Amino acid sequence: MAPISLILSFFLFISPALSTNSEGNALHALRSRFKDPTNVLQSWDPTLVNPCTWFHVTCDSNNHVIRLDLGNSNISGTLGPEVGQLQHLQYLELYMNDISGKIPKELGNLKSLVSMDMYQNKLEGEIPKSFANLKSLKFLRLNNNKLTGSIPRELTTLSDLKVL
Ligand SMILES: *[C@@H]1O[C@H](CO)[C@@H](O)[C@H](O)[C@H]1NC(C)=O
Repeated sequence: MAPISLILSFFLFISPALSTNSEGNALHALRSRFKDPTNVLQSWDPTLVNPCTWFHVTCDSNNHVIRLDLGNSNISGTLGPEVGQLQHLQYLELYMNDISGKIPKELGNLKSLVSMDMYQNKLEGEIPKSFANLKSLKFLRLNNNKLTGSIPRELTTLSDLKVL
């Protein structure tokens, strides 16, 4: 039997290198910005090897996060740049909450994003110009917020996009 110290070194040194869990870390950082009075995010245990068993999170067969479904979840607080680290995200559903503050420009890093629904929140400021990089985006719903300015001209270059 392998000495316990050998087993421990495996978990301490080898296994983090195999599974860095950057998407779980990003989601956990996002959670820390949220107020969650009805414990919708209770299952978000950062000690798990990845976030794929967390409620409201969906992964593909390679354990990459492809959906975040937190519409109508009584969440308040703000968004942060870490959302931009969810490189495989296709659906970002945060509609009908109380989320405030600005939309992070890092959301423009989500190259696989198909649908972004953040309508009916308290988001303010402008729609980031970086959204022009969301080449897969088909649905962008940001109505019923406190956004200012107009839809960036850069967004109109996205041919398939339906903006509400
Ligand atoms: C949101 O809050 C209301 C009122 O407290 C509650 O009835 C509802 O179940 C909550 N929704 C979720 C998704 O927890």
